[in-house]
Formats: sequence, structure tokens, C-alpha cells
Amino acid sequence: MSRDKIISGDDADETPVREAVVSSALDPEEDRQQWNLRPKTLSEYIGQTTVVESLNIAITAATNRREPLEHVLLHGSPGLGKTTLAHIIATAMGANIIATSGPAIEKPKDVMGILSSLEVGDVLFIDEIHRLSRVVEEFLYSAMEDFQVDFVLDRGAYAKTIKVPLKRFTLVGATTRAGMLSAPLRDRFGIFTHMDYYETEELKRIVQRSAGILSVKIDPKGAEEIARRSRGTPRIANRLLRRVRDYAEVESDGTITRELADIALKREMVDEMGLDKLDRAFLRTIIEFYDGGPVGIEALSATLNEETDTLVDMVEPYLLKIGFLNRTPSGRKATRTACEHLGMNTAKRKQGQLPL
Ligand code: ADE
Repeated sequence: MSRDKIISGDDADETPVREAVVSSALDPEEDRQQWNLRPKTLSEYIGQTTVVESLNIAITAATNRREPLEHVLLHGSPGLGKTTLAHIIATAMGANIIATSGPAIEKPKDVMGILSSLEVGDVLFIDEIHRLSRVVEEFLYSAMEDFQVDFVLDRGAYAKTIKVPLKRFTLVGATTRAGMLSAPLRDRFGIFTHMDYYETEELKRIVQRSAGILSVKIDPKGAEEIARRSRGTPRIANRLLRRVRDYAEVESDGTITRELADIALKREMVDEMGLDKLDRAFLRTIIEFYDGGPVGIEALSATLNEETDTLVDMVEPYLLKIGFLNRTPSGRKATRTACEHLGMNTAKRKQGQLPL
């Protein structure tokens, strides 16, 4: 039996908060709701075929050799399934999982207790691993490589370093910013996976699977409409499904059709491309306030009164992916397609035709 422990690092505290309905951030209630919809095994997992196949091979090989799995780094945008995969890995290895996050571990002693409690093969899951402090990162080097740590007892003249042996555990790290990890930490992961946005067809299957779990009636076009407007992200797809389900139950006979999904999503301010209020405000600010750009992210964050991290992790990646945004050395620029989508024209602003 797997023993799932959340040591610390409530997702709601660590993930930049984004209010809108398509937000990828999790609050505890959201987390609980999403939990029931998560696949529990690799064979149930839809999408990310390359990642799933390589994990499957690594898990099978390690199991056959009766060895713990090598350390795994999962890289990708919020909501794509990194935490889900960490749990699937632990279940597949028949191991316990202990979950924490980078910001929750301030000092080596915070992680020391966790490390020394790990049994052979246990999975230590560190979400937002790029937010570990440098000292904690360095402390982890020997834990990951030699399965021992140098722990400093006492201070000053009485300081003593003791070597503490550890059981052979598997570290699974999740990050939205692999580039922020130090090279030595990155190099200690034997398995490195990158997760990209999901295709609409994959999200449609995820929506249909979730609708089955929630006992919601949905027709294929209804599922496709939700999938198409979920910004390539299963967490958003499942959240929109729950919002559309509410609408279907109150305003209709409970069945989700394409028309019903469209009305419900419009009410949720999710547009045809799946953009929400913050995405649109972000683009509008670049276009109206900064004449289409280039503009630095700090200036945008100040104008929008949003955390820079929220913009960088949750808004920009999808806008870049769909070609609505360019990142240039001099700053962010909105593209012509973005202007067209919003029905805006940067030239108008220059001519003083658009109010600030
Ligand atoms: N629910 C959320 N993500 C999923 C996935 N990748 N496959 C199946 N169900 C999911």
C-alpha cells in the first residue's frame, strides 16, 4: 500500500495565485476536486506519449532489476500533470510518496528529517524545485548521488559535521523553469522529461473520461468545445467541465452540448481561443499602453498589478505557443494575430484613437 504524505507546501501558498476561472493555480478545494479526476496509472494516462513511454520503460527496467528508479525531473507549464505523474511513478514502483515543495524547504534541516525517514525506493516529490535555496540545492547533491548527507551539528567552535547514510530513494522534481536549476542539480537527474501542451483531441478524451467519473452526460461536440478552449491544459479542461456541468444542471437538462458549453464558457469570460480575463488584460496592456511593445515584464506586472511569476508561468507560455506574443531581447511584443483576435489596432493608439 502506498502511503501518501504531504509534508508541507500547500499548493495554494506556493503557486502564484490567479483568480480567473481558467487559472492553473490550485487552492485546496480545487486540489481535492482535481484529485478524483487524476489517472492513477500510466495506462489510464492520456497524452504526453513520449513522456509516458520513457517512464514506462524506466519503471519496468528498474522493477525487473529490483532497483529504485533513477531520479526524475518533470518540466512543463502548470496544470499539465507533473504531480499526477509523480504519484503514478510511486504507485507503479510500489513505493511511498512524500510530497513537499521548493519554497517550503528553507534550510537543510527542513529536508534532513524527510530524507532520513525515507525507505528504500520511496519517492520524494519536490514541486517547484527551482525555488529551492542554493544551500538546500547543494545539500541535496550528495543525497542524490551518494545517498548520504553531511549534516552540521551545533554551531561555532563546537560545530561538527556528521555523515548520515540514507536509503536509496527516488527524487522526483517538478519545475516550470528548468533553466533556474543549477547545472549540478540538473545533472543529477537520470531521467529528464519535458511536458508540452496537450492536443485538443487528447483534451477531448480527458474531458470525456472526467465526465464519466463525474457522471455527467456530454456529447462529443460538447467535449470538443471544452477541450478547444482549455489552453492545452488538463487542469483547466477539468475545471471548465465542472463549470459547464453546473450551468447544464441549472439551465438545461444536465447534458453538455456544444451550444451549451459555448454559452457557459462565454459567461465564464473564456473566449473562443480559451483566453481568460487576465490573458486579455495582458495583451491589451501591451497593445494599448505600450503601443504593441516591446515592454519589459516588470513594467507589465506593475501596470497589471500582478506578480511577475504569475505572468511568466501562467500567462505567457500559452500566448507564446499560439503566436500571440513574441519575446524579444528588448521585451514582450503583441503580434498582429493577437491584435486581430482582440479587434485592436496598435496604430490607432499611436494616432490617439484609443483611450488609455
Ligand atoms: N485527468 C487529468 N489529466 C489527465 C490525463 N493526462 N489523462 C487522463 N485523465 C486526466
